[in-house]
Amino acid sequence: RAFLYRLWKGNVSSKMLNPRLQKAMRDYLAANKHGVRFRGRREARLSRTELLCELRRRVRVRTLDGTEAPFSALGWRPLVPAVPLGQLHPRGLRSCAVVMSAGAILNSSLGEEIDSHDAVLRFNSAPTRGYEKDVGNKTTVRIINSQILTNPSHHFIDSSLYKDVILVAWDPAPYSANLNLWYKKPDYNLFTPYIQHRQRNPAQPFYILHPKFIWQLWDIIQENTKEKIQPNPPSSGFIGILIMMSMCREVHVYEYIPSVRQTELCHYHELYYDAACTLGAYHPLLYEKLLVQRLNTGTQADLHHKGKVVLPGFRAVRC
Ligand code: C5P
Repeated sequence: RAFLYRLWKGNVSSKMLNPRLQKAMRDYLAANKHGVRFRGRREARLSRTELLCELRRRVRVRTLDGTEAPFSALGWRPLVPAVPLGQLHPRGLRSCAVVMSAGAILNSSLGEEIDSHDAVLRFNSAPTRGYEKDVGNKTTVRIINSQILTNPSHHFIDSSLYKDVILVAWDPAPYSANLNLWYKKPDYNLFTPYIQHRQRNPAQPFYILHPKFIWQLWDIIQENTKEKIQPNPPSSGFIGILIMMSMCREVHVYEYIPSVRQTELCHYHELYYDAACTLGAYHPLLYEKLLVQRLNTGTQADLHHKGKVVLPGFRAVRC
């Protein structure tokens, strides 16, 4: 529990993680499989307001629009949704929920509160059926990684999880964000199932995040962290929080910073235990969480008992 108390105060370092997770972090730093070349400086001096203003100034949600090579020549322009993600709710949503898939949300009874928001963001294959009391049943946006589109076990084509929602997919690209390289060698080939899904369901808003957006978020995390972070993309959770900060006036994030219910149970919907799910191995998850902790405007009671962080949307930030 000591670690949890320090995390709530924003006072932890990777040195406090268990040796296995520390080794995983070192190995990812040594491998640098995405070719990260960080040119900025690492500090953690900005105040909450300065950090918010920095995010508002720099973060631009960007999705593939089919105008760049190789996608332009492949006829993607008419394939992607006509309305960009950022303009689906041009006047902005009022209050939004981001529901993490952590095991700690079990027995939280947060379902009703979560559903009271104007929009709810969920991740990957996280279900609501059977878990309504703890996670609610409204889903407005679902962020999915490329494995969801490519691994047959997820039934991307016919599962109801991926219907009647805004879909936002992503895949780790090289840090250079060279789209030609990425297209030739994605982590998992999401391009083919994306095209197929767009052709079959042209009315459903479905976007692929631009690698520049993902690595821009990574740069911001590293610039605001003293330690060297894993040179891998931020987790879907962090990406989702920033997308909702761009679209909503207020964002309530559930079980990202763990509550008193913290557990090694990776997901609420799966019997699989691994501390890496909450603290990170591949993703710079611990550092993402420290950054989000610094931005929290909610109460300590909500943090401890609901695992809830409250963040202003960019529209509500005065700089
Ligand atoms: O595992 P998955 O990526 O589907 O989970 C969605 C997001 O929820 C993660 O990207 C991570 O940010 C967050 N998460 C967490 N703690 C867990 C499981 C997930 O913070 N135990």
